[in-house]
Amino acid sequence: MTPLSIDAERLLGRLRDLGRIGRDGGGRLVRLAASDADRAGRDALVAWIRGAGLEVAVDRIGNVFGIWRTADHRDRAPVMIGSHIDTVIDAGILDGCYGVLAGLEVIETLKAAGSIPARPIAVAAFTNEEGVRYAPDMMGSLVHAGGLPVEEALATLGTDGTVLGAELERIGYAGSEEPGFLTPHAYLELHIEQGPVLEREGVSVGAVETLQGISWQRVTIEGEANHAGTTPMAMRRDAGHAAACVVTFLRDRARRPNAPTVATVGCMSFEPNAINVIPSRAIFTVDLRDPDEQRLRAEEAALAGYLTELAAAEEVTIAVERLARFEPVTFDRRMVALIETAARDRGLSVKRMTSGAGHDAQMIARIAPAAMIFVPSIGGISHNPREQTPDADLVAGATVLLDVVARLAAQ
Ligand code: GLV
Ligand code: MN
Ligand code: MN
Repeated sequence: MTPLSIDAERLLGRLRDLGRIGRDGGGRLVRLAASDADRAGRDALVAWIRGAGLEVAVDRIGNVFGIWRTADHRDRAPVMIGSHIDTVIDAGILDGCYGVLAGLEVIETLKAAGSIPARPIAVAAFTNEEGVRYAPDMMGSLVHAGGLPVEEALATLGTDGTVLGAELERIGYAGSEEPGFLTPHAYLELHIEQGPVLEREGVSVGAVETLQGISWQRVTIEGEANHAGTTPMAMRRDAGHAAACVVTFLRDRARRPNAPTVATVGCMSFEPNAINVIPSRAIFTVDLRDPDEQRLRAEEAALAGYLTELAAAEEVTIAVERLARFEPVTFDRRMVALIETAARDRGLSVKRMTSGAGHDAQMIARIAPAAMIFVPSIGGISHNPREQTPDADLVAGATVLLDVVARLAAQ
């Protein structure tokens, strides 16, 4: 039998079309979860799902599913292909969207070829994977996997003071299905690597075996506002300076030789935020990641110890709030092997690897065998408008997905 081919132009065209939706006045792609831009992206996706003749289902946390099932499938668990279409601020067009649109492409290809799968195949777009507006990240898939009660998730307060549940209602994506209504037989996620490994090694496909642990915290430091010109340096309780000390502490620790830990302070704000006033308050986020749970715990403990010392030394008070905490994940061995075989059968180079980024797959792995397929990211750049993957690699990744899904759905 000649192997099936996806419709490359349809997939690449949809990626470009979705990438035009949610541009701000400066042309930046900003499709934050449950925003008007997200609604527009979701509307486009739902139109494509309907156009493909699939059943559309939306659950209470706004996860969107396109389901291909026939009367013969009855209550059989689906092979699920998923990712997300929400974005960070000033994003590229591939992160998440590639996995969702490739999932749809795979289903349309199998349908058009007249294939008769033994179980349903579903594509999922999970709400708020990025976690930029509402923490934690991977929220829709976490709720789907039963790791966070839906009421709690819907009550989440956003960075802009909005409440997620109200925003989902407002954009028309507070669905009626109970989260978790569709438990996968197996879950696959195709994603750009977002790192440099595949490109550097000249490998086309990554078979992702593990994914590192993630710890998100928000730190608030309270000092005292005072006059920038009259207050001697020794008499200051400077929340801004204390925050800067934390940034350098994290960087210095993470840069120790052979430490795989990565540490990022991505948000920071000062109050009153004036040129001639010593900051009375600094609020910032900490993103700590490590592939080893024990080491991630040790890094969290080291930070906590440093904050205690700093509070005493700088005469400030420091409060810490946990925003997200996910342990490292090991994906399903058989599925990883299936991905490797499928890639080789298509004549593609493949490598087992770990994921530095968080993904919905790490949540769904709690309830179903899961694995991920990576394709190269040019220059290892992501969460940036320059995020790019050669078209040939995007098509190759979707082809491997097609073959793996076809095999899983035949079982
Ligand atoms: C998701 O994009 C993450 O922060 O890894
Ligand atoms: Mn992503
Ligand atoms: Mn992302």
